[in-house]
Amino acid sequence: MTLAIIGGTGLTAIDRLTITHTQSVDTPFGAPSADYVFGELDGRQLIFLARHGNPHTIPPHKINYRANIWGLKALGVTEILAVAAVGGITRAMKPAQIAIPDQIIDYSYGREHTFFADDLAHVTHIDFSYPYAEHLRQRIIAAAATAGIDVVGTGTYACTQGPRLETAAEIKRLANDGCDLVGMTGMPEAALAKELDLAYANISVVANWGAGLESTEITMAEIEANLKLGMHNAINLLAQTVLLSA
Ligand code: HPA
Repeated sequence: MTLAIIGGTGLTAIDRLTITHTQSVDTPFGAPSADYVFGELDGRQLIFLARHGNPHTIPPHKINYRANIWGLKALGVTEILAVAAVGGITRAMKPAQIAIPDQIIDYSYGREHTFFADDLAHVTHIDFSYPYAEHLRQRIIAAAATAGIDVVGTGTYACTQGPRLETAAEIKRLANDGCDLVGMTGMPEAALAKELDLAYANISVVANWGAGLESTEITMAEIEANLKLGMHNAINLLAQTVLLSA
């Protein structure tokens, strides 16, 4: 078992990771977002990838999700913990809260979203009823209990196109659709991992309330402050999860 962490906004690097080396990977789909970072988190080996590049320069709709996931598979990864900043929609998803979603609705468009696009002799329709690996989700939830970190263990993640935030009406629609969280990078990443038979789970860190849920404007300063606290907890959660993954 080789474990990987994909870090999103607010987690371009993990300070606690003792880096052994980095490796660039060529893929049939082009270049991944960054070099893959090999290191040890509290003594356990893993591979880290900065989803938006390092430094953070690639917006959600421009990320080469296929290259990122293909590269991890090529490096022998079998399990992926994907960290993402999100907006909160339902009451429990308050700023700085961590959630481990169990469902996704995909509202993104125009992204390269499958490995089965060109070779029509081998079109594969993956079962995506349950988009996240349940054993990984449960391991993260168990790690949170051990580490005393408050997580919400279910939720539906809405993936919007970005890079703009949503309108108030869009957030209302997402709430009506049953979504609890909204982010811009959850898809096609989760589906691509499933296409390559990689176990994949998402750790969402709430950066702000969804548009229109508060009377004030959403500012980058607010997002950054909440992410600072949330990502501190997320790193502790990752370290504990990695320990349970041995
Ligand atoms: N919407 C979409 N993606 C996000 C948000 C949001 O409010 N906050 C952080 N990522």
